[in-house]
Amino acid sequence: MKKIIEGNKINLRFLKLSDAKSIHKYAKDPLISRTTFVPYPYTLKHARSFIRKSQIAARKGKWYAYGIEKKSSPEIIGIIGIHGVNKKNKRADLGYWLGKKFWGGGMVSEAVELVVKACFLNLKLNRITSCVLPGNPASTKILKKNGFIEEGILRKQIFKGNRWQDIYLYGLLREDFKKKKFRK
Ligand SMILES: CC(C)(COP(=O)(O)OP(=O)(O)OC[C@H]1O[C@@H](n2cnc3c(N)ncnc32)[C@H](O)[C@@H]1OP(=O)(O)O)[C@@H](O)C(=O)NCCC(=O)NCCS
Repeated sequence: MKKIIEGNKINLRFLKLSDAKSIHKYAKDPLISRTTFVPYPYTLKHARSFIRKSQIAARKGKWYAYGIEKKSSPEIIGIIGIHGVNKKNKRADLGYWLGKKFWGGGMVSEAVELVVKACFLNLKLNRITSCVLPGNPASTKILKKNGFIEEGILRKQIFKGNRWQDIYLYGLLREDFKKKKFRK
């Protein structure tokens, strides 16, 4: 995977240890952990450890984390990650978050579009999945806009926030991407 992926509003790039402060600044918001697997409370140590692990994982081709930065500023304001790259079965799982103050600007929709394209064209995946917790309409919208289809509900899949929660599983196949039926 490329270290930098350039878009219109945003660029995506591999993380450096110096990004830890900005990642911590935005990821520590409980609104981020509520609908993701980002830990809460989120410390600077979490951010540093995540960056180090992401660097090793990318070298091994196991998973990739890209920082999201606005074209106008080099600050990392969110993360989009391709986890659990399964080379034999050519699939991986997509996750993302953005700092609250930047929500609603279309940046994550673009980040998903860029990463999906890289996953099919560079990583040669056949299938990308994404897991959404109930009550996350923004994330559902982003995935649908990018051609993902709801494939089912994994009932009581995770214990989070002191209760069992369902997961909505979304999937996008290489053939759907190639047809580009969903493209704007
Ligand atoms: C999910 C998240 C990344 C979305 O960020 P964002 O900046 O709002 O994303 P975008 O602006 O690219 O797109 C959001 C879309 O959802 C829509 N949307 C937002 N809130 C909505 C709601 N309550 N109901 C329906 N649609 C909604 C927006 O209108 C937009 O669609 P549009 O571009 O067609 O208008 C952000 O809310 C976040 O970081 N949440 C916490 C972490 C998280 O949930 N990550 C995803 C885990 S699966």
